[in-house]
Amino acid sequence: MCWEQCSKTQVIALNVSEPTTREKIKQFQELQEKARLGGGKERIEKQHKQGKHTARERIDLLLDPNSFVELDQFVVHRCPDFNMDKRKLLGDGVVTGYGTIEGRLVYVFSQDFTVFGGSLGEMFATKVCKLMDLAMKTGSPVIGLNDSGGARIQEGVASLAGYGDIFFKNVTASGVIPQISAIMGPCAGGAVYSPAMTDFIIMVKGTSHMFITGPEVIKTVLGQEVNFEELGGATVHMQTSGVCHFMVETEEEGLNLIRRLMSFLPSNNVDEPPIIETGDDPNRTDEHLEEILPDDPDKPYDMMEVIRAVVDNGDFLEVQPLWAQNIIVGFSRLNGRSVGVVANQPKRFAGALDVSSSTKAGRFIRFCDAFNIPIITFEDVPGFLPGVDQEHGGIIRHGSKLLFAYCEATVPKITVIVRKAYGGAYDVMGSKHSGADINYAWPSAEIAVMGPAGAINIIFRKEIATAKNPQSRRQALVREYREKFANPYIAAEKGYIDSVIEPSQTRPKLITALEMLVTKRESRPPKKHPNIPL
Ligand code: HXC
Repeated sequence: MCWEQCSKTQVIALNVSEPTTREKIKQFQELQEKARLGGGKERIEKQHKQGKHTARERIDLLLDPNSFVELDQFVVHRCPDFNMDKRKLLGDGVVTGYGTIEGRLVYVFSQDFTVFGGSLGEMFATKVCKLMDLAMKTGSPVIGLNDSGGARIQEGVASLAGYGDIFFKNVTASGVIPQISAIMGPCAGGAVYSPAMTDFIIMVKGTSHMFITGPEVIKTVLGQEVNFEELGGATVHMQTSGVCHFMVETEEEGLNLIRRLMSFLPSNNVDEPPIIETGDDPNRTDEHLEEILPDDPDKPYDMMEVIRAVVDNGDFLEVQPLWAQNIIVGFSRLNGRSVGVVANQPKRFAGALDVSSSTKAGRFIRFCDAFNIPIITFEDVPGFLPGVDQEHGGIIRHGSKLLFAYCEATVPKITVIVRKAYGGAYDVMGSKHSGADINYAWPSAEIAVMGPAGAINIIFRKEIATAKNPQSRRQALVREYREKFANPYIAAEKGYIDSVIEPSQTRPKLITALEMLVTKRESRPPKKHPNIPL
């Protein structure tokens, strides 16, 4: 065939097959539809039968209506092995993009279990990394919805590299933009470390599982029988390991919770959290606060009652409510401003600090400090929990995390000593000495090196032993000690307490102090980073 003939044939062929613009748009729409179906209708049905939503349904439930803009819808993997070149699914198992929550920009990636079990390969990871880069450039939160079988086995080391790239970005973004993870299916092996390095983990009861080595491996290596739920279900991570921050019954609840959590957070570390009109009177006093504490200082009460009586409309989002219950942490508002609340809970171990509660509160304080959220502390702490378990478990190392976090934090810090503030725990729990800006105490406060009984036994041991009636002598000495030391006035005399306040006045006093501290600026010497005891 000569050139002329060839060219003519081609032109004719092109004329025949060249699609019109309308046809091109139709083809594009078909491709979009194909991408939207992920792994196909059958797999979507399977997902629904398991009580799970699809990746896209989850995004729709999370974001403001019609706000989602998808990116990389047509990305496919590049794996030639295991016949994978014949199985390319548009989007490659993760839906990525941006949208809004209450009008504020957020980035979302949602793993699609219907595509290769949501497993992560090279291009999947590239999509997530692109999203994280955009989030960092624009200073907006990243929300990850996890439902994945982990590293895509067919892609081998490329998938491990993909995870590694995401981990690196998680760490770079930490403390710059909020990162929130919801676990809505399996999350296994090293894959757990991306959520673990984000700020908050939400798990759905019954359908989400997180573990490093699964039941099969545990059986082979250790001979132990354990199922997915017992090993890494939401309840385990909520109550025992402390991995999970919020446990929810349904996916809808989890996605709503993310919206609520976002309402307390700024978009990044140089923004302020949103101020929301709550309608609660900043001058509101509450006589009920005078009745919460029992007359006997050794009797427990519920610190949650104190928190709810003080904050706007009693609205409190508790973080890790079922783990280390001797300390309460969570978000709330005072006159519309976001605050992080840390409070000892006398209902559990008398509110004493232990390994887990120190870690829990230390991490929460560091989050608040990174994101410009003032810290309000309600204190009733008899000291550190005694015991061989605690000492051998490293209470020295873990307790120092909490002390470190309080000292390191430069956001406004206001402390109210409600009742006990004994020993080292007095120093740790937001004392003036750990850098608190305003320290209040109720008249019921007891601030001393230790409680009366312990103190008397040490300093009057000989006197008690040689007394005619040791028991009554001890009681008299305890009474004397309590009258002399177990009150807020010695600390107030020294200026360690700025004001002794009536319990009913706590809310207006906190709000006045908070407003006064709005312009607070405090800096530490320049350094690469501090060396928190890990
Ligand atoms: C490739 C995977 C996959 C994976 C699941 N699939 N996991 N494909 N790589 N990691 C595929 C399955 O082959 C199947 O494809 C589809 O996804 C659905 O999986 P099923 O097993 O049918 O679903 P189900 O019974 O619900 O079980 C889900 C599961 C199970 C519990 C997640 O698939 C599973 O155990 N997967 C492997 C988990 C794992 O060990 N991952 C590696 C972890 S190590 P078809 O086409 O048949 O429907 C790791 C290292 C990361 O992740 C390290 C980072 C540093």
